[in-house]
Amino acid sequence: MKKQIALVTGANRGIGFEVVKQLAQANYQVILTGRDSEKVNKAASELARQGLAVEGIAMEVTDDSSVKEVAEKVLGKYGHINVIINNAGGNFDYDKSVSQMDLNFASETLELNLLSAWRVSMTFLPLLRKVPGSRIVNVASGAGSHTDTNFGLTAMGGAVSAYGVSKCALNALTCKFATDLKKDGILVNSVCPGFTATYPGAEAQGARPVKDGAASVVWAATLPADGPTGGFFRDGKAIGW
Ligand SMILES: NC(=O)c1ccc[n+]([C@@H]2O[C@H](COP(=O)([O-])OP(=O)(O)OC[C@H]3O[C@@H](n4cnc5c(N)ncnc54)[C@H](OP(=O)(O)O)[C@@H]3O)[C@@H](O)[C@H]2O)c1
Repeated sequence: MKKQIALVTGANRGIGFEVVKQLAQANYQVILTGRDSEKVNKAASELARQGLAVEGIAMEVTDDSSVKEVAEKVLGKYGHINVIINNAGGNFDYDKSVSQMDLNFASETLELNLLSAWRVSMTFLPLLRKVPGSRIVNVASGAGSHTDTNFGLTAMGGAVSAYGVSKCALNALTCKFATDLKKDGILVNSVCPGFTATYPGAEAQGARPVKDGAASVVWAATLPADGPTGGFFRDGKAIGW
């Protein structure tokens, strides 16, 4: 069987980096992307030195021409793609109130957490359509959920609003793409990695190891062609929107 090709955004560190590692260990050819070419090359070389099939390519997810350029490169080299993982994200605005929001910050957050995933998914669609059973995974968050009582939309007062709204909208995008792409047999799901220790001190606050957060994402990236689509999952189990 032909080796499966996966591309992960925001993969030079954190959950994305570990997702690349786990997919490569599962025999995928993985394209590790990030906005800074130096960081991308360093991260990809670290995994390649371990004998893993990882290639680093710089890609700025907020920039149309950068994403198009990478899609053309991947098409030329591999001819198709099996998995896109929209992982790049951030702006966890714990220190900001919804009632006193700097809308430039909110707009930047929507651009990063919502529109980038939209842009990357759309641009890579022709490559995903070249193989049966391809997958798009949107790395969402309990912070965008109506039902998560720890981090969700009605927890944490009015804080984490730009981030929460952007991740809720990302879930809506998952539903829209999943519905549209059903006819093409492309599976589209949202995944929450859970509270994961990607910054200093997070473990002491109760965050779980990065390998566990990444495994939650890898589950959706490696679904069989008859797997679920249009769902929101953590650790392979459906969770509330
Ligand atoms: N950690 C958690 O507890 C948790 C929980 C739920 C959901 N998530 C989601 O999981 C994903 C990965 O989180 P993480 O904790 O691994 O984050 P992280 O360690 O902060 O890494 C974030 C990645 O996104 C990239 N990125 C950030 N801002 C960007 C921008 N403006 N343009 C392009 N790339 C940008 C970063 O690139 P640079 O290195 O260049 O900055 C980095 O590669 C995110 O979507 C996050 O929202 C995380």
